[in-house]
Amino acid sequence: MKKRIVITGIILLLAVVVGVVVVRSREPQHTSQVNNSETYEYYYNNEEDQEEDSLLPEDLDSILTDNQTVPLDTIPSSITVLVNRKYLLPSTYIPNNLVVPNVNFSFSYLSDKRKMRKIAATALEKMFAAASEKGIELYGVSGYRSYARQKEIYDRNVAIRGKAATDAVSAMPGSSEHQTGLTIDVSAKSVNYRLDQSFGDTKEGKWLAEHCHEFGYIVRYPYKKEKITGYSYEPWHIRYVGTTVAKYLYTNNLTLEEYYGVTLEDETQTETGVDVEDPDSVVYATPKPTKKPKAEKKEKKTKTTAKPQKTKAPKKEKATASPSHSDTASATSPPVATENPTPAPTDPPVVTKEPTPTELPASTTPGNQTNE
Ligand code: DAL
Ligand code: ZN
Repeated sequence: MKKRIVITGIILLLAVVVGVVVVRSREPQHTSQVNNSETYEYYYNNEEDQEEDSLLPEDLDSILTDNQTVPLDTIPSSITVLVNRKYLLPSTYIPNNLVVPNVNFSFSYLSDKRKMRKIAATALEKMFAAASEKGIELYGVSGYRSYARQKEIYDRNVAIRGKAATDAVSAMPGSSEHQTGLTIDVSAKSVNYRLDQSFGDTKEGKWLAEHCHEFGYIVRYPYKKEKITGYSYEPWHIRYVGTTVAKYLYTNNLTLEEYYGVTLEDETQTETGVDVEDPDSVVYATPKPTKKPKAEKKEKKTKTTAKPQKTKAPKKEKATASPSHSDTASATSPPVATENPTPAPTDPPVVTKEPTPTELPASTTPGNQTNE
C-alpha cells in the first residue's frame, strides 16, 4: 500500500514537471520587438520559423500608411532583423532550421553555403521555379555563412585588397546578413556565375530585381543607395524579409535602413567604408558580452531601439532601373576578392568538395575576382 502511494506520488510529480515544460514551450514566441535580453532569449532559442507576418508590428499597416517610423528590429532570428555594420549579430548566433533549398547552384559540392533558413529556402524554391517558367535560369552561389566563415572571407579580402576597399563590398564578421540564413547571392550562366555588377544588366538580374519582392526578397544593396546601406551596388545579394515588407520596400524604393529610419552617419566614414575599429561605434543586436553599469546599459538600449522619425517614403520612380556601369563610381571600382576568386567556368564546376583557399590560384587579378 505504502509502495503504491509512493509510486503514485512520483507519477504525479512527473506529470506536473512535464506539464510545466509543455506550457512554457508554448508561450508566445514574440512579445515585442524591443531589443532586450528576455526577448533575445525567446528568439535565440526558437526552434520553429515563424509565419512571416507574425513578427511584424500588429499595426504595421497604419504605421506605414501614416509614414510613421517602424520599430527597429534587431532580434537575430527575426525575418525583419536589421543587420549591417552598425547593427551586428553575435558571433555565437547560428540560425535554426537551416536547410538546403532544392534549386540549382553554381557549384556541385556539399557546403554550408547551400543552406538557408527554411522559410527563406521555400520562398527561394518558388522564386527560382517561377523564373524558370519564364525562361530565366537562376543559380544560388552563396547562402548561409557562419561567423567564422565570414571572418575567413573578410580577413582574406583585407589581406589582398586592404581594409577600405574590402569594407565597400565585404561585411566584417558579425555584420553580414549571410549569417542570418535569410540571404543568398544569386547569379546566372550568362555572366559565368560571377557575382559582379554586370549581373544587374542581364535578363536574369533584371527579372530578379523586378520580381523578387513577390517572393519576400529584396535586393539589399541597390544602386545609388550606397551611402545608406554602406555597400556598393550588389544586384546579386538578395535578402528575405517576407512579402509584406518586401513589397513595401520595392514599391517605395526603400532600403531596410530607410524603412527603420536609421543611418550609418554617426560613424567615422572612410573613403569607401566605415571605420569599425571603434567598438563604441557599433550597436550590438544582443546584449554585449561584457557587463556594463546599469546606467550605461539603459543608454545603449535607448540607442538600439531609438525610433527616429522617418520622412515620407518617396514614391518609387523605377525600382528596377539597372545602372549603366559607366555612370557610377562604385560600379567601376575594382571588385574585391572574396571566397573563391577563381574565374567561373562556363558550366557549374563538377567537383566533390569545396575548394579551400590553399587550392585556389595564388595570383589572381582583381578583374577576375568576384564579390560575396
Ligand atoms: N557582400 C555583403 C555586404 C556581405 O559580405 O555580406
Ligand atoms: Zn551576399
